Amino acid sequence: MTENDGEDAERILDSVESNDSTLSSVTRRSMIQGAAAFGGSTLLASSSVSATDDSDEPEGSDETLVETPPMGWNSWNTFYCDINAELIKEAADAMVENGLREVGYESICVDDCWMAPERDADGSLQADPETFPNGIEPVADYVHSKGLKFGIYESAGTTTCEGLPGSLGHEKQDAQTFADWGVDYLKYDNCGNHRGLSAIERYARMHEALEATDRDIVLSICEWGDNDPWFWAADVGGDLWRTTGDIKPLWSKQEDLWGNGIIDIIDQNEPLAEYAGPGQWNDPDMLVVGVDLPEYPNLTQAEDRTHFGMWAMMAAPLIAGNDIRNMSEHTQAVLTNEEVIAINQDPAGNQATRIQHITGQDGQPRSVWAKELANGDQAVGLLNRSDMRTTITTSAQAVGLDDEERYNVRDLWNGGDWQTAGLISASVPSHGLALFRVSSGSSDDSKPLATVSSTPSEVVVAPGEAITTRIEFTNVSPISLDEVQVRCTVPDDWSSKPDSMTFDDIAAGPSIVGGGGNQYNAGADWMARTPKNAEAKDYELTIATEYADGTTIETPLIVTVDESADSTPSSD
Ligand code: GLA
Repeated sequence: MTENDGEDAERILDSVESNDSTLSSVTRRSMIQGAAAFGGSTLLASSSVSATDDSDEPEGSDETLVETPPMGWNSWNTFYCDINAELIKEAADAMVENGLREVGYESICVDDCWMAPERDADGSLQADPETFPNGIEPVADYVHSKGLKFGIYESAGTTTCEGLPGSLGHEKQDAQTFADWGVDYLKYDNCGNHRGLSAIERYARMHEALEATDRDIVLSICEWGDNDPWFWAADVGGDLWRTTGDIKPLWSKQEDLWGNGIIDIIDQNEPLAEYAGPGQWNDPDMLVVGVDLPEYPNLTQAEDRTHFGMWAMMAAPLIAGNDIRNMSEHTQAVLTNEEVIAINQDPAGNQATRIQHITGQDGQPRSVWAKELANGDQAVGLLNRSDMRTTITTSAQAVGLDDEERYNVRDLWNGGDWQTAGLISASVPSHGLALFRVSSGSSDDSKPLATVSSTPSEVVVAPGEAITTRIEFTNVSPISLDEVQVRCTVPDDWSSKPDSMTFDDIAAGPSIVGGGGNQYNAGADWMARTPKNAEAKDYELTIATEYADGTTIETPLIVTVDESADSTPSSD
């Protein structure tokens, strides 16, 4: 909030009062509340921005169209303006054939560039005659025939961002056109001339126009967070609202590339958790999981999981932006992970909050996120923002669970149930996100939770030289472990010492209700020597620990053999 916020609220109120006299009194009231909220966060508690108080909801929206965050596909992030009717129909086919519809994706949305540069003689929008030769309606019909919803794009200005006709001043006619075509979802952008009208007014107008049709159409407000829409968008009938500028397949902003990386967006969306809830969602932009753009770095597999997992945690709309007709197995597995989707679609509708910020020895932050779920479980994310693999630890208490003797930790990326006495810990790759569903109590089937680490987790050596690392095993489970075997695998022509080792009598991990906590970890040094003729490249070694019952936990150790490495020979 800035000192000028009060003035901004005044200005918005003035523009509400002096402009469009066709707005209903309900919308006016909502806008005034929104504007007041805009002026000071202390007013929010009593404004209608609350998710649970539906008495102030705009007229006609008693039943929300977006009880949980919308899920679908949109053409923009991969195809930009290179779209046509066939592509949209093929995307609908792919959504069914590739299992996306089955896990909850339900809309196909055509973004900018679907329309002709001019309105028709009656002033109606018309489809581009070359790319959508039969118009939009048959495309919408086709999408509906697949059991899916159809979404379209327009702008609350005189033009779209690609310079095509905008809806400002044509709201009623355009909303009716969309309803006639069978549109279910409108992404409403902010490009073109605004003719001096505030965002609140321009978006309220389109909401009114959509309400005047007899079709339920989701209003997705896309003004990039410029006017703090979290304060007013729900009040003017927005079902979701963008909170940031455009996403690109980047980890973080780069000087030479346009757009935001996923970590920039996470940081911008993080403080807005209180404004999300059933029927009203912060929208940190569409997904770039599996998006492959030649001019961008694109995301690594770990970053894909972090992006999707954090969007799930933040109760963000899950709108795939990749070419869903041709997905890698990895992309498909990420987009269709049902346990992660269940976190996103949880009926409580909470947006995760960042409960811990930890700065590692490398000076880079790690963070811990928690999202309370409807059944009392907590979804917990351990996010490693650094360039190195690291172990991140929090506790059941810190994430908001009641004190218990044991908890069940469900690993949402790797599967499996683990039990802990209280600490929640994982070795997380660079830019990775460990994602868990944590509940009170645990079943007999759940395995003792522990972490294995190697310090350092990445080493650079010259050929023929040796590496020494410290291996640590930490038991956080409520069960003591008699014997844990440790094995480090190396390529055939490397030597290692020792070949294997055993950690004995490791106590149970510390418990919130008392007990455990002494000698629950064990460590030893381990050494490996590369051959003199080792090829210069990255080697991924595996450090595997095995309990007496056969449960194994592994962690990788990355060794880069580099002829120019300045490595000190070890004295073995
Ligand atoms: C804006 C939006 C994008 C996309 C383009 C289309 O940049 O933020 O998501 O819709 O316009 O031109």
